[in-house]
Amino acid sequence: MFAKEQYQLLDFGDGRRLERFGEFILDRPSVAAEGVPKQQAELWSSAHAIYVRRGANEGAWQSTNQMPLSWKIQHENCDLELKLTDFGHVGVFPEQSGNWDWMTRQLKSTDETLKVLNLFAYTGGATLTGAAHGAEVVHVDSAQNSVLWARRNTESSGLTDASIRWITEDSRKFATRELKRGNKYHGVVMDPPSYGHGPKGEVWKIQQDLDELLDLCMQLTAHDRRFILISCHTTGYLPHDLEQKLRMALGSGHGGTFESGGLAIRSADGRQLPCGIAVRWTKKIDGT
Ligand SMILES: C[S@@+](CC[C@H](N)C(=O)[O-])C[C@H]1O[C@@H](n2cnc3c(N)ncnc32)[C@H](O)[C@@H]1O
Repeated sequence: MFAKEQYQLLDFGDGRRLERFGEFILDRPSVAAEGVPKQQAELWSSAHAIYVRRGANEGAWQSTNQMPLSWKIQHENCDLELKLTDFGHVGVFPEQSGNWDWMTRQLKSTDETLKVLNLFAYTGGATLTGAAHGAEVVHVDSAQNSVLWARRNTESSGLTDASIRWITEDSRKFATRELKRGNKYHGVVMDPPSYGHGPKGEVWKIQQDLDELLDLCMQLTAHDRRFILISCHTTGYLPHDLEQKLRMALGSGHGGTFESGGLAIRSADGRQLPCGIAVRWTKKIDGT
């Protein structure tokens, strides 16, 4: 998880979340915070930047002049560069930190060098985690600016010499090509959006395309599969649905254990803000 001085959800309610990323406090919309009241009204005036929605898919940040163009926070020993993006994001989804910790445990559980495929990899939180723990990582995202952002995170984290292959490509297309090339992986992590695009306009729709992608990932890991992690923020998807999809893809005799549930961020006063779901599969080691 993030150390408190790096990241904290200070409060949420009335459709918004108030978060501190390092020394900067941001106030932004959150669907999950609708229908519940704010608990710490006095804190909200301390925000350095506020994201105001204009229409369904647009908005803008209103910031104080103290706000830099970019700044950094750390997760474990890795740097994450943050910026206020046009979509109200900042370059990190804090709810993923528990998944990165889980990944760390998988990688630490063996002396072998594991090969990990990170799909829809965004700014590289999972890539950094893998690289920092000795994995060979293939980082795939369709957005060139996200790949460059992840590379900056890697350099700034002192992981320039780590084994990372950077791919700007449609996830499904890349997985298909890897299979044809005969490349193999021990683990796959993915955080697919509900809807997205490959760099050549390839359409990704989680509802219609996830099964095929999972099938490709099963084939890529068939020789010696150790772990699979799928997270998503798609409205209407329940942990049980995602687990069922993974169970179907794995088939019987998969020899592993599942953990599935909601992702959430705990606020300073102990409440939970739901932030998507995750399913984790781990190969069962004899005696565990
Ligand atoms: C929800 S974000 C991933 C968040 C990230 N895993 C994290 O936790 O920090 C989804 C990412 O998928 C990428 N993406 C969207 N469609 C894609 C596609 N067809 N192939 C590859 N990447 C895609 C986007 O550029 C974006 O970076």
